[in-house]
Amino acid sequence: MKESFEQKRQRSAQRLGLSPEAIPRHIAIIMDGNGRWAQAHGLPRFEGHKEGGKILESIILHCVDIGIECVTLYSFSMQNWKRPVEEVEFLMYLYTAYLEGIRPRLMENDIRLVHLGQKERLPREVVNALDETMEITSDNEGMVLGLALNYGARTEITDAVKKIAAQCNAGELSLEDIDEDCIADHLDTANLPDPDLLIRTSGEMRISNFLLWQISYAEFYVTDVHWPAFTNEELDKAIIAYSQRLRRFGDVEPKTVN
Ligand code: FPP
Repeated sequence: MKESFEQKRQRSAQRLGLSPEAIPRHIAIIMDGNGRWAQAHGLPRFEGHKEGGKILESIILHCVDIGIECVTLYSFSMQNWKRPVEEVEFLMYLYTAYLEGIRPRLMENDIRLVHLGQKERLPREVVNALDETMEITSDNEGMVLGLALNYGARTEITDAVKKIAAQCNAGELSLEDIDEDCIADHLDTANLPDPDLLIRTSGEMRISNFLLWQISYAEFYVTDVHWPAFTNEELDKAIIAYSQRLRRFGDVEPKTVN
């Protein structure tokens, strides 16, 4: 019988010495430091991206095992197009190969892939690989894997505003219908819970235009570890740190997660 999210969380909480409520439902990750990892190992930057891709599977499967309901990965921002053309081309090749290669693992583990961001400007191979993987996994009911690819939060919010305005113009929505839920429903993350925990590797203390609306109350965890060196144990450490935070959501009384 399939283990439920709840059962997985209970098992992992026991392993980590936490209460099951202390396990985040949605983890968002800014995977930074591929270049610095490569530099530290005397390798060209693309080797860092390659290694960063290699560790992904282990982290994703660890999240499944822990009982995480959604993992969102910042894989390529709209601002990343400014990088040298050879680096962008290599990354696009990596995303295509990755999306094709990971399908059996997604199916075995009941993972559903969703895309965050704009498909325009992405090479046809990447769009095809995304579309086919999303189609194949669309009926899966386990963890959701969000891949932010050609994503920018300001653009996402601008697009949501445009969609809402168009629906108002068409008489399908009125001003009174526009509330926080309405805006959230028009974002790429519609129907996903907001991230509880935002992890950034490689030490920078910034958000870099990632999920600006959705992370309003997320707990931020920054580690100096570069993404290619991020292990399952590092993920456990982030969850333990999260469990020790007092989440107040603007209230006086903390809603302790642990
Ligand atoms: C940031 O490191 C990383 C990226 C811009 C790309 C993220 C891509 C991966 C982790 C590769 C695999 C991903 C998938 C989905 C297959 P950086 O190049 O900015 O590092 P630096 O700040 O040290 O230069």
